[in-house]
Amino acid sequence: MAEIAAAVEFARKNEARFVEELKALLRIPSVSTLPEHAGDVRRAAEFVAAELKRIGMENVRLIETASVEHPGGHPLVYADWLRAGAAAPTVLCYGHYDVQPAEPLDEWKSPPFEPTERNGNLYARGAVDDKGQMWMHVKALESLFAACNGRLPVNVRVIVEGEEEVGGEGIAQFVRKHGDQLRADVALVSDTEMFAPEMPTLCVGLRGMIYTEIEVRGARTDLHSGMYGGAAPNPFVALAQIIAKLKDPEGKILIPGFYDKVEKPTADELKAWKALPFDEEHYRRTEVGSKELTGEPGYSVLERTWARPTLDVHGMPGGFIGAGAKTVIPARALAKVSMRLVPDMTPAESFAKYKAYVESIVPKGVEVEVRMIHSGDPIVVSTDNQFVKASTGAMREVFGKDTVYVRGGGSIPIVGDFVRELKIPTVMMGFGLPDDNLHAPNEKFNLANFHRGIESIVRFFGNVGA
Ligand code: BES
Ligand code: MN
Ligand code: MN
Repeated sequence: MAEIAAAVEFARKNEARFVEELKALLRIPSVSTLPEHAGDVRRAAEFVAAELKRIGMENVRLIETASVEHPGGHPLVYADWLRAGAAAPTVLCYGHYDVQPAEPLDEWKSPPFEPTERNGNLYARGAVDDKGQMWMHVKALESLFAACNGRLPVNVRVIVEGEEEVGGEGIAQFVRKHGDQLRADVALVSDTEMFAPEMPTLCVGLRGMIYTEIEVRGARTDLHSGMYGGAAPNPFVALAQIIAKLKDPEGKILIPGFYDKVEKPTADELKAWKALPFDEEHYRRTEVGSKELTGEPGYSVLERTWARPTLDVHGMPGGFIGAGAKTVIPARALAKVSMRLVPDMTPAESFAKYKAYVESIVPKGVEVEVRMIHSGDPIVVSTDNQFVKASTGAMREVFGKDTVYVRGGGSIPIVGDFVRELKIPTVMMGFGLPDDNLHAPNEKFNLANFHRGIESIVRFFGNVGA
């Protein structure tokens, strides 16, 4: 245990350097969804690989994921250190180095790819989701190597992906084909949030998702709306009519059978959620910032965001969106629509029901195509294992408090595969905060949490190895 104390000491002495290195990674705009950033995505992968090598990890390599079935796939970063002996457990550290697009740019107080410290926070796209949190793993490993004479208290594999924000197809294929190369006793994921500041949190469930497009086609080409308005179908009106039938005004999804497989959280879970310090009015005002909250009646906000499916429209590209006015009947219209899923819904079955329903409500005069862009399974992980104890024990030492168990409304598609394909428990120990602006302008990571996260992870490895 003297070694764990020395590793914590090392991390404290090197806090400033750790932050400077993270800034260098944050300057690389590794936006996975935009093809023009493919080179930046690869540079970020190489940056992470080089650091893993420098700190003492072995077998460091980029694993290509691009293939005929998966064009444009971004590389995985792999590393391991397996010299702790056959009796020691193996921890699989997971993170992602890709980020969401930074737009709208003019709402950032400092540019998204120029990391800036303000009031104890580090502002940049990817600061908390997930470069900063992935970096905590790397820095915890570095601290342990430094304090333990180039050794670690456990066996470690590291897998960092560059496609989490676009569905994670590359890593999913790798896990299915080469799961043996990731053999481990537990996966450690730091890509979630704490329930509130100063409140150590384990995330024990994630929603799944299906991300889709609905394309509506009307006339053979764009038309003058004066000459043809009244006779030609309008795809945007048709699309709006379709979308209006997906949900009722209260927020219930109208796709037949959509809720059939929804599992109720256990009575214990619901009781624990009721005991969490959640102030709905504060959440509405400071986090959401809308006049009112919406969603299914009869369910609390935590139930609606953690344990109920939802449907959202992200954008409707097409037609005329420039300044001023253009009188045109567009020939086609598109909507990007996603649904969040909860156990025991499956992406395939949910998509089939949705597609059949949309095709049954197509207005006159237009053709509709419904496409799946990506999908991921919902998951609830078990808490009844030594690794959860190792994690709550570690966080008690750092925060001086008991851990709360929450679910996350977001999705991390590969976690379902860790559980189902690798058949290992997953510990989701995240250090983001509710106001960190994930996917939004002014994303940040609280630097105190960055450092406490590193210390918690160092102690987690110590507990797992003890
Ligand atoms: N880290 C998030 C997921 C998350 C956020 C889980 C907060 C729990 C709490 C992840 O990077 C993410 O944003 N995932 C996407 C996945 C999708 C594109 C398949 C999401 O949830 O939209
Ligand atoms: Mn993430
Ligand atoms: Mn994300």
